[in-house]
Amino acid sequence: MRPPRGGAGESGVVRSDRRDGSEGGVVRPDRRGDRESPGVRPEERRALVFGATGFIGRHLVLALGRAGVRVATATRSGESYRRLAAWLAGHGHHPAPADLRVDFGVPTLTRDDVTAWDDVTEVYNCAGAYRFGMTAEEARRANVDGVRAVVAFAARLPRLRRLVHVSGYRVGGQDPALVPWSDERRRSVYRALGAYEASKVEADAVLQAVADEAGVPWSVVNPSSVIGDSVTGESDQLLGLASSVEEIWRGAMPALPGGARTFVPVVTVDFLARFMTLLPVDESAERGSYWVLDDDTPALPDLLTLVARHYGVKVPWARVPVPLLRRLPRRITKTDPETLTFLSSDRYPTGPANALAARHGLAMPDVTTSLLRWADHLAAHHFGRDRTGRDGAGRDGSGRDRAGATP
Ligand SMILES: NC(=O)c1ccc[n+]([C@@H]2O[C@H](COP(=O)([O-])OP(=O)(O)OC[C@H]3O[C@@H](n4cnc5c(N)ncnc54)[C@H](OP(=O)(O)O)[C@@H]3O)[C@@H](O)[C@H]2O)c1
Repeated sequence: MRPPRGGAGESGVVRSDRRDGSEGGVVRPDRRGDRESPGVRPEERRALVFGATGFIGRHLVLALGRAGVRVATATRSGESYRRLAAWLAGHGHHPAPADLRVDFGVPTLTRDDVTAWDDVTEVYNCAGAYRFGMTAEEARRANVDGVRAVVAFAARLPRLRRLVHVSGYRVGGQDPALVPWSDERRRSVYRALGAYEASKVEADAVLQAVADEAGVPWSVVNPSSVIGDSVTGESDQLLGLASSVEEIWRGAMPALPGGARTFVPVVTVDFLARFMTLLPVDESAERGSYWVLDDDTPALPDLLTLVARHYGVKVPWARVPVPLLRRLPRRITKTDPETLTFLSSDRYPTGPANALAARHGLAMPDVTTSLLRWADHLAAHHFGRDRTGRDGAGRDGSGRDRAGATP
């Protein structure tokens, strides 16, 4: 198991122990067990999704709709809302969700009358800057300040049952007791991990700390690399593993990264979304963090070999061990060094998430089938670029980050 809550990670950063010292510590001891809220009917639920225009957010809106939950979105512009509404309609989600226009530059998040949102029972935070090569300030503003703003918004909702936050499988499980971080701690974490991962580490701790302080009931999901829908393969996200799949497709990968124990786990976006919809109605999930990923994901070189064979392209015969990859200059790896921390043999505490899914009858889709459907979808959609140069969600594809084999 990787050390998300104690000991030094591959980055050398010491990650904090949980205050309750629980193994895999995903559910606080006094909250263990199956405590689904009795009698919460879907029609009594009203969800508000921050980051609804993103990859995870869009699929979450679909999953909530399919579960019969009334769902509204929080978006940053009319244009992004219109694109989202069109995408949702194209996926059978009707009617278009009510929308809250938010400005993360405003401490209250919105200039609108918030009493209109008093019936919201669950808030999901899928908003965040998910990209590499940011400055620390940029990453903190988006991922740490964003979390503070969403918690403050949630704290004002009189009927709130749960705030569900998307953290990450290599950043979750931080110790809220260390918030606020000292300048020295912040400097060392950001230096060791790079801006994206460090800001997510800090945000994980801040979310727990400020939500506890404000009396906001929370749950956190720590997904691994999120791949396309398990049935259609659909995904327009081109970071990390997807860019390695593209390299395989183009025959441009000189050597397979990692070895037999290099574990870059995946989870399909629809499984993750459905899992998230379960958290607000499961009392045992309050103040719990859940690692959501498929333990059966093949080791990275095997995963890429599987995809290469499926595409019918040459499998690179050479392998580059991770320690060597880390020493190679960027002009050779053509990979943002921030992404290399994800190349690891760590394993993750998935037991509680698997148990929660099982309790609610949610089965993990077959990982090989899902990977190949995703690979097919990526290739069929020219890795996010149709002939107009726009990606599947209508965004300009020029900002793509060639980010190596990792999320
Ligand atoms: N996808 C993965 O593999 C993965 C894995 C683990 C964790 N996560 C985490 O899950 C969250 C969502 O990821 P995703 O894959 O859905 O990302 P995404 O597709 O890039 O979507 C990000 C969402 O956040 C919003 N956003 C971007 N920058 C923002 C900012 N500065 N302030 C406020 N909102 C901002 C975007 O809104 P606009 O449309 O207005 O730009 C969009 O709705 C992120 O926190 C990411 O770290 C993702």
